[in-house]
Formats: sequence, structure tokens, C-alpha cells
Amino acid sequence: LKDFPVVNEPILGYRKDSKERKALEQALKSTASSCEDIPIVIGGKEYKTSEVRYQVMPHDHQHKLASFYYADKKLIEKAIKTAVSTQPKWDRVPIADRLKIWEKAADLMATTYRQELNAATMLGQSKTAIQAEIDSAAELIDFIRMNAYFLKEVAKYQPISENIKVTKNSLRYRGIDGFIAAVSPFNFTAIGGNLSYTPALMGNGVLWKPSDTAMLSNWLIFKIMREAGVPDGVVNFVPADGPVFGDTITASPHLAGINFTGSVPTFNRLWKQVGNNIDKYVNFPRLTGECGGKNFHFVHASADVESVVTSTIRSAFEYCGQKCSACSRMYVPESLWPQIKEGLLCEASKLKIGDVQDFSSFSSAVIDDKAFKRITGYIEHAKKSSNLEILAGGTYSDSKGYYVNPTIVLSKDPKDRIMTEEIFGPVLSIYVYKESDLLETMKLVHTSTKFALTGAVFGQDEEFVKCALQEFKMAAGNFYINDKSTGSVVGQQPFGGGRMSGTNDKAGGPHYILRWTSPQSIKETF
Ligand code: SER
Repeated sequence: LKDFPVVNEPILGYRKDSKERKALEQALKSTASSCEDIPIVIGGKEYKTSEVRYQVMPHDHQHKLASFYYADKKLIEKAIKTAVSTQPKWDRVPIADRLKIWEKAADLMATTYRQELNAATMLGQSKTAIQAEIDSAAELIDFIRMNAYFLKEVAKYQPISENIKVTKNSLRYRGIDGFIAAVSPFNFTAIGGNLSYTPALMGNGVLWKPSDTAMLSNWLIFKIMREAGVPDGVVNFVPADGPVFGDTITASPHLAGINFTGSVPTFNRLWKQVGNNIDKYVNFPRLTGECGGKNFHFVHASADVESVVTSTIRSAFEYCGQKCSACSRMYVPESLWPQIKEGLLCEASKLKIGDVQDFSSFSSAVIDDKAFKRITGYIEHAKKSSNLEILAGGTYSDSKGYYVNPTIVLSKDPKDRIMTEEIFGPVLSIYVYKESDLLETMKLVHTSTKFALTGAVFGQDEEFVKCALQEFKMAAGNFYINDKSTGSVVGQQPFGGGRMSGTNDKAGGPHYILRWTSPQSIKETF
């Protein structure tokens, strides 16, 4: 990929009075003033059940944004049948034709539907304009374009070796006989598009269960992909109750894979169910999961304080710390603590938390009541514990929206649960270490949690950086030196982590598409 020709989609700025700002304001107005009724779609046919659910705005939870329906077991089984029977026909569609559909879809997302997607992400998932633009415009378009590019590259009819003269050997990339279930999260609209449409691109039939709290933006992706030419039945849009969906797909002999982003307990549950049903399956199902983290910023005494402060504030508090990659724990040397503390408190006090339609908001509400309760539970724990001191924030209210103010906690104990458990909210915990304990503290970063998603080190000292590369080799799937732990870019920093953070299949990298193909080796003898 040395000559990688695909450029990342540029991020628009939304300055006041700019063309894109006006278009986005218009889209926000029209999205907020209607309540889209979203059906289940199986084989191109729309279905509605009596199990009606609503997507509300997290920053204004009395405002319904969309209604949708839970598919019951029978409909999920129908979707399985449809995906399985569509798969062989779809897999025969020449790769060049599939690529044209993906290129058209990316263009539609970049132009006609850009602001509609952003408005749905802003209002439905409470992202600010810039955070929505990074996600439902740039990252989504990049996933669609880059995966198409990666497929074009691997699908060339390449002889395995030019040196073998008597036979011609090649690989062709087939879909997998059966169906793939995509279970996607709320926190990135782009991940919804990637989890469902990458297996489809590779010739598979898919059931897509979007997150209830990202329904509208995910529905728009589905509609755009249809408009671009994805045939009926290739991807089936199946909102459902999580356990009902999980039980039904894992009970089918045709389950060929699960493409999952979400919590560890849910992924564990699916994995166990697959294990229990293993004798039934036609194929060994492929399980790909990205499951969270307890991402760290580790500061060395040689670090540049200003960059540490800015990077940490952004990583910990943008999108309320609800990026899988968000910094949630920080390790600071005693010598730099007074300056870093002052910087963090000063920057945190400036953060404006409010409605996403106010373009000066830095962040808004957390996603739902469940998240609000979990996050504020950790804040209450901090208030009660003698090892913990709240330095900033610690306040919250759910009267209008699920608002939690950016909270900074100092921990005397590096193993306190606030330092080791995933919170997935705007809570940053800090441990100040003695410089004489540098190595011991570095080891603790890895051993004190079960996660290994992202991590960052800050320091100018070359010896430290060398040592960090060694000590943190297994502590993060995405590792940053003098930069924040968030913001991986498709095609540049393929994303994923090990241990309980997931199967590390590196979304946004060249190998990800290979997860969703079962290649055939062909030897031709003449
Ligand atoms: N790409 C995002 C980030 O690195 C996570 O999905 O923040």
C-alpha cells in the first residue's frame, strides 16, 4: 500500500455564515421537526410490529426523533432466510460492479446526504457539529471508499508467483456461505456503516441490528446504500431486542459470522451461545468484536505540558468520553503535577456543555439513562472514597437531558476501580507517581485492567520513548507517542485492541475486509 491513492474525506469547519453551516442548520431544523417512522426491512419489504420503540434526543429526552419496531423471532428468522438465499446471487455480482455501488454511495454521503447524516447524528446521538462531521461524514465515507479500494487491490487476478511456469495459481475472494450478523453501537454512526456493509461488499448476506440509540443515522445509511444500488436482501435492516436477536442468530445453522461493537458482557454472551451451538453450524462462525477500553495517557517528566493538557482534555471529554478510544486514566510524574493540574483545571473550567444546536457547545449529554446512571455511580463512588478527590466537575442533572459535567478525579490508589474499570463517560482519573517508581507504574498500566485498546505516552526523552514502546507493547492496539489516544483515521491508523478490548481486526486497515471472505485457491494447469 505504499502508493495508496485514496485521500481521506476533508473535514468541514462549519464557520458561522458558511455554506455548509447554513445547510446543516437547515437539516437540523427539518430533522428536529419530524419524527421519522423507521420500518424493519427484509428483502426490500417493510415490516412493522406491535413492539414500537422511540429514539429520543439525549440532550432533550422528551423530544422523540424517530419511531421504530423490534423484529420478533419470526421476522429475524425470515431475515436469515432472505440473507442466506440472496448471498449466492450477490456473490456472483462482479466485484467491479459492487465497487461502483460503493463509490456511488460514498459520493452520495459526501454531497447530497452529508448534512442530513450529520443532523441525525447530532440530534440522535448528541454529537456536536464537528464530532458529527468527523464521524458520519468523514469516517463513514472513508470506510466505504477505502474498503472498496482495498478490495480492488486484493481482487486483482494475481498469479501467486510469476516464477511458476507450468501452472497458474491464484486466489479469488468469495463471500461466506450463510449470513453475517452485524451488531453496531451508538457512539459512531460510521461503525454502523462499516460493520454491516463491509461484509456485504465482500459478497455476504447480512442482518444488521443497529443500536436503538443510533437508529435514525443508521437508517439513513441503509437508505443511501439502497439508492446507490445495493440489491434487496443483501443487507436486511433488523432492529430488535438484543437478547432475542442474539438467541435467534446463534441458533441458526447458517450463522457465518458476527461483526460486533459493544460491551464485553454482550460479546461474551454471543461467544458462549456460538460455543453451545457449535455442532449445528455449516461453517465455523467468525466472531469479530470491539468491546471497549480503559485507555491511558502516560506522562513522562520530559513531556511538553501544554500538549499533555490539550490532548488530555480533548481525548477525555470530547463526545463526553464516549469514544471507544477516549482517555479515562492518566499517570503524571510528581514533578509535573502542579503545572498539569493547573492546566487541566483551567481548560476544564472553559468547556461549555449544552445543546448540540448551539454551535459553541464543546459537548452535550451522554447517550441515555443507563449511561447516566452508570457514570454518575462512579462519581458518587469518588465522593465517598477517601482515596479519591474530585478536582473538577462531579455535578450532573437529567431533568432535560442526560448531562454529566466533565469530571476530574485524583486517585491515591492506582488500582481503585475508577482507575481500572471502563466508565464510558466524561470522567478522567489521575494517579500521580513518584519518578523513582517510573518502571513499576508503567507495568501497572498494563496489569491493572483487562483492556488494551488505546494508549498514549508523552515525553521528549528518547530513552523513555524506547522503554515505553517495550513496556506498552501489549497495553494498547492503537498506541500514540506525543498525541492523544483518540482520533484514529481510516487508512492511516487501523483501529482495534487486544485482550478484552476485542479481537483486534483493525477496522479501517487493509486486512479488515479479509475477515469477511473465504478465499478460494485456484490452480490452472494447461
Ligand atoms: N476512530 C475512533 C477514534 O480513534 C474510534 O472509533 O477515536
